[in-house]
Amino acid sequence: MYRIAVMVSGNGSNLQALIDNVHRNARVDAQIVMVICSKDDAPALERARAADIRAEVVTLESRGGDRQRRDGEVVRLLRLVAPDLVVMAGWMSIVTPVLLDAFPDKVINLHPSLLPAFPGMNSIADSLDWGAKVTGVTVHLAEETVDGGPPILQEPVPILPDDTLETLAERMHGVEHRILTRAVTLFAQGRVHRDPTRLRRMIVNDGGS
Ligand code: GRF
Repeated sequence: MYRIAVMVSGNGSNLQALIDNVHRNARVDAQIVMVICSKDDAPALERARAADIRAEVVTLESRGGDRQRRDGEVVRLLRLVAPDLVVMAGWMSIVTPVLLDAFPDKVINLHPSLLPAFPGMNSIADSLDWGAKVTGVTVHLAEETVDGGPPILQEPVPILPDDTLETLAERMHGVEHRILTRAVTLFAQGRVHRDPTRLRRMIVNDGGS
C-alpha cells in the first residue's frame, strides 16, 4: 500500500478531494496515513478526523517562529508513518531543507497558477490584477525556492472578462481538486519520475487516461 501524508493549513478542500478520490478509492492502492496542519482551528482538521485519519497540529508559533525547528517536528511526526509521498495541499507556510532533505523528491506542492507565472501567496488575485487571459494550476516537486520546483502536472484555466476573485477562485479550486488527485494517483502507481538526464524535467507516464 502506498502511504501518503498531507500537509494543510485551512479549509482542506484539496485534502477532501484526496480523501474521496484516493483514500476511499478501492481502485487506488493508497492510503492517507497522516494529516499535519499548521493551524489548530483549521476546518481541514475536522475533515481528517471525520475520515479517521491521524491528524497532528504543528504551528510555527509553538516553535517560537523558527521554521527549522517547526520542520524538525514535522519530520519527526512524518517518520512515524513512513510516507512514500508528502503532499502540501494548501500548506501556507514556507518549508526548509530540514523537511525537504528528509524526504528527497517525495514532497509535492499545489499552486494556483501556471508556474513560473504568479508565484507566492496571492497568485489568483495577482493573475486578475495583471490582466492575464489565462492562468492555471500547477502540481510540482517542492524545492527550497518557494513555488520553484519542477512541474509534474499543469492545467490552464481561462480568465473570463467578468471574473471576480470569487468566481475565478471557484473554478480554480475545481481544477486543483482534479489535478492534485491525478498527480497523487500517478505517484501511487509509480508513474512519476525525475528525468535522470534533465533534472528539471519530470517524466509523467499518464497513459493518456
Ligand atoms: C488552494 O488554492 C491552494 O492552491 C492554495 O491554498 C488553497 C487551499 O485550499 N495554496 P484548500 O485548503 O485545499 O481548500
